[in-house]
Amino acid sequence: MSEQWWQRAVVYQIYPRSFQDTNGDGIGDLQGVISRLDYLELLGIDAIWLSPVYQSPNDDNGYDISNYEEIMSEFGTMADMEELIAEGKKRNIRIIMDLVVNHTSDEHAWFVEARKSPENPSRDYYIWRDPVAGQVPNNLRSTFSGSAWEFDEDSGQYFLHLFSKKQPDLNWENEKVRQEVYDMMNFWIEKGVGGFRMDVIDLIGKLPDQEITGNGPKLHEYLQEMNAETFGGKDLLTVGETWGATPEIAKLYSNPQRNELSMVFQFEHVGLDQQEGKEKWDLAPLDLTKLKEVLSKWQTSLGNEGWNSLFWNNHDLPRIVSRWGNDQQYRVESAKAFAILLHLMKGTPYIYQGEEIGMTNYPITDIKQATDIETINMYQERLALGFAKEDLIESINVKGRDNARTPMQWDESANGGFTTGTPWLHVNPNYQTINVKQALADSSSIFYTYQQLIALRKEHDVIVWGEYELLQTPTEIFAYLRSLGDEKWLIACNLSDQSQALSVPKSKEIILTNYELTEVPVGEVTMRPYEAFVLKV
Ligand code: GLC
Ligand code: CA
Repeated sequence: MSEQWWQRAVVYQIYPRSFQDTNGDGIGDLQGVISRLDYLELLGIDAIWLSPVYQSPNDDNGYDISNYEEIMSEFGTMADMEELIAEGKKRNIRIIMDLVVNHTSDEHAWFVEARKSPENPSRDYYIWRDPVAGQVPNNLRSTFSGSAWEFDEDSGQYFLHLFSKKQPDLNWENEKVRQEVYDMMNFWIEKGVGGFRMDVIDLIGKLPDQEITGNGPKLHEYLQEMNAETFGGKDLLTVGETWGATPEIAKLYSNPQRNELSMVFQFEHVGLDQQEGKEKWDLAPLDLTKLKEVLSKWQTSLGNEGWNSLFWNNHDLPRIVSRWGNDQQYRVESAKAFAILLHLMKGTPYIYQGEEIGMTNYPITDIKQATDIETINMYQERLALGFAKEDLIESINVKGRDNARTPMQWDESANGGFTTGTPWLHVNPNYQTINVKQALADSSSIFYTYQQLIALRKEHDVIVWGEYELLQTPTEIFAYLRSLGDEKWLIACNLSDQSQALSVPKSKEIILTNYELTEVPVGEVTMRPYEAFVLKV
């Protein structure tokens, strides 16, 4: 198969609520995104994954959609959306829509109808079950704490919600539901979008009665049907959010022979700093050996039968520089080291807004400062179970989703230039030193490392297509080779705040570094804290 545009692309994720406000209501909007397209063009990205902008009561910040063909009024209008697509096109930036079709909002017209009575023609768009011995049908739990079954007084039945009670799950076994989704996707394809990021798509084949949620038996059948009915053959990027993917499963989704998706987000590395078999809030230190194992496994196991996506961050995850780097003394060095480590791998890199300037987590001291439903529900549930308040706040500071959602820091003016009003979520007070204006003015900033990484991928086939080989090094150093034909690149990153020794047998040329290097490193070299380099060898 010939190269696809998305195999050389870098995608930038925008969480519109926190990107740029233009009318002073404290909420980012589509005109704000448009106003920053020149900045994104300068960075060099090829596509924007836009977190949901559809009409929504915002129980889960837009991941609860009440109308898929209307724009959330806080964000603007359909005309603004069309303008964004057109302005993106002028700059070769495609707009990837967030497709949230495992569930809708309970305020979606389908659910409003469905709820009216068991005889309603829309009833079967959702998943209803009778009580079992006067109780919930089974033990399925919501990702946002508590039972996944919510009782509906009027009909005496329960409906399923794998997320909040305001996010009832759609019944994908119903052909009419599937057709509605495909029609809606075609509505957006006709508007000229560049593809879809598919929210928790591995759940649509669920068998709730057997307590099977991810990777249900009909999942791939549905995706093949979706492909045929909508984006198939249309040169769009499609990426599935698949928490339960192994390399074997990823091939099912992304093998081009199977006509499903371009690629998936796998999350194996994301779970490496939690206690095994527990939840993300149950903290454990990151094991670097495991990080190397997991990422290397994904680099080598897909071959020509699938495609990787590469990411450290998104709107659900803490900031990488705070999480696995050092957001104090080595903020710049460690942010660059993690960028270099990821962007020289095989796959399509995703950058989350603010990552390119090294934005950090924003610790809270009290639950009242939290806005995220996942965090708030977890806190209440665990508090009732007897967990200590301080431990819960610590977990939230390390893993909570609000960390990534604080407003984008543009300059040193009030609220980081995000809004002239009151921001919907606190701005990180470090905006006076960490902001886009400062980054652009400093030629050695994190921004320019990202810009270089994106440009390198455009120029060098070895990054897109080269073989990957992990090197045996001290634990703290993550080093690998990429090779294509005669070309061989060595990527080495010291992921610790201590100096580490590395032996570099030969090297010809420095491609990229995050410290000043006066000569090409060769022989026994000492890598300084979070030092990273890319060498032609
Ligand atoms: C995905 C989204 C997350 C959302 C959830 C429910 O995991 O990334 O933000 O809360 O799905 O839609
Ligand atoms: Ca606004």
